[in-house]
Amino acid sequence: MIRVGIVNVTGYIGAELARLLSSHPEVRLSWATGRSEVGKRLSDVFPYLDDIQITPEPEEADIVFSALPAGSSAKEVVPLVNKGMRVIDLSADFRLDEESLYPEWYGFSHPAPYLIKEKVYGLSELYRQDIAKASLVANPGCYPTATLLALAPALQEGLIQPDIVVDAKSGMSGAGRTFSLATHFAEANENLSAYALEGHRHLPEIIQEVRKMGGISPCVTFIPHLVPLTRGLLVTCYASLTKETNVERLYQEFYRKEPFVEVVAFPPPTKLALGSNLCLIHPTIDRRTGKLIVVGCLDNLIKGGAGQAIQNMNLMLNFPEILGIPSKPLYP
Ligand SMILES: NC(=O)c1ccc[n+]([C@@H]2O[C@H](COP(=O)([O-])OP(=O)(O)OC[C@H]3O[C@@H](n4cnc5c(N)ncnc54)[C@H](OP(=O)(O)O)[C@@H]3O)[C@@H](O)[C@H]2O)c1
Repeated sequence: MIRVGIVNVTGYIGAELARLLSSHPEVRLSWATGRSEVGKRLSDVFPYLDDIQITPEPEEADIVFSALPAGSSAKEVVPLVNKGMRVIDLSADFRLDEESLYPEWYGFSHPAPYLIKEKVYGLSELYRQDIAKASLVANPGCYPTATLLALAPALQEGLIQPDIVVDAKSGMSGAGRTFSLATHFAEANENLSAYALEGHRHLPEIIQEVRKMGGISPCVTFIPHLVPLTRGLLVTCYASLTKETNVERLYQEFYRKEPFVEVVAFPPPTKLALGSNLCLIHPTIDRRTGKLIVVGCLDNLIKGGAGQAIQNMNLMLNFPEILGIPSKPLYP
C-alpha cells in the first residue's frame, strides 16, 4: 500500500481528498494535519472518514497533498519536497511560472523560486506525461480547469482570436470553509453577484496557460460570479473565430479518449457533474456574431480540486488514471 498524507484536512478540499482517498484501492491515508483539530480522530471531526489521528505536523509518506490556503502552502511544501516526498499542491503557490507574479497577485514573495521552475502544472488531460514524472505538481484552480478544458481544442487548432471573454459562476464551497459575510446563508441564498472585476487571482493562471496552449498573447476578460449552490462551477467562454470549422467534430476528436471530459450536444447543467470528476463541455458557433461559444462545467471540489489531484496521483504512481475516482454524477 502506498502511504498518503494530507496537509490541512479541515478545509473543504482536505476533507474531500480524505473522502475520495478512503475508497481508493491502492493507497492508504497514513496521516493528516489540521490546525484546529490536532489530537482528535479524523472520524470525530468528519464521522464518515477514516479513524486516524489528526497530527500537528506532516509525517512520512510516499505522496503528500497540500490543501492549505494560498500563501501558507509553499512554506509547508518546500521541506517535504526537500526530504524527497512527492507533493501535489492544491493551492496556487506553485501554479504561476513567473516569480514576480506572486507578490502582485497573492501578496507574498515566493520562498522557493527554484521549485516554481521544477513543478509541473497539473491539468491532467494536457500534461499527463510530465505529471507522471513530477516530484511537485501544482494542481490547477477550479476556474482555470473548466476554462482551459473549454478552450484547449480551439486554441491548439488556432481557431480563435486572442480577445477571449470568460463569464464564470461558482457555488459557495469554492470560497472555502472559512466564515465570511459574503458566504453567510442569509447573504448568499437567493442572491447572485459578480466579484473581483478588477482582476481575480485565477486570471494570471488562465493567461499563462492559454498563452502556452495557443502560442498567442491573449487578452482575457474573466468575470466570476458567486451563485447559491453548494458545489458546481460553470464557465461560458466567448472568442471570435479565425476560420470556419466543425467545432463539434474538433472537440469530440480532441477529447475522444478522455475518461473525465465529455463533449455534449447541449449546454450542460452543473448537476450533470455533481459529485463526479467529470468536466462537461459544449462548443457551438454563434453565426450572427462569428463567435465561438464554449460552455464548460464541473464540480469545483472534485474535477476542480480533489478529484483532479487524485487523477494526478494515479499518473504519478503509474496506476490506471481512473482508479478510485467517481465518474458518475449524483442525481438528483
Ligand atoms: N474550494 C474549492 O473549490 C477549491 C478548488 C480548488 C483548489 N482550492 C484550493 O485548495 C486550498 C484549500 O481550499 P479550501 O476550499 O479547502 O479552503 P477552506 O475550506 O477555506 O480551508 C481553509 C482552512 O485552512 C486552515 N488554515 C487557514 N490558514 C491556515 C494557515 N495559515 N495554516 C494552516 N491552516 C490554515 C483553516 O483550518 P483550521 O480551522 O483547521 O485552522 C481553514 O479552515 C486553497 O488553496 C484553495 O485555493 C479550493
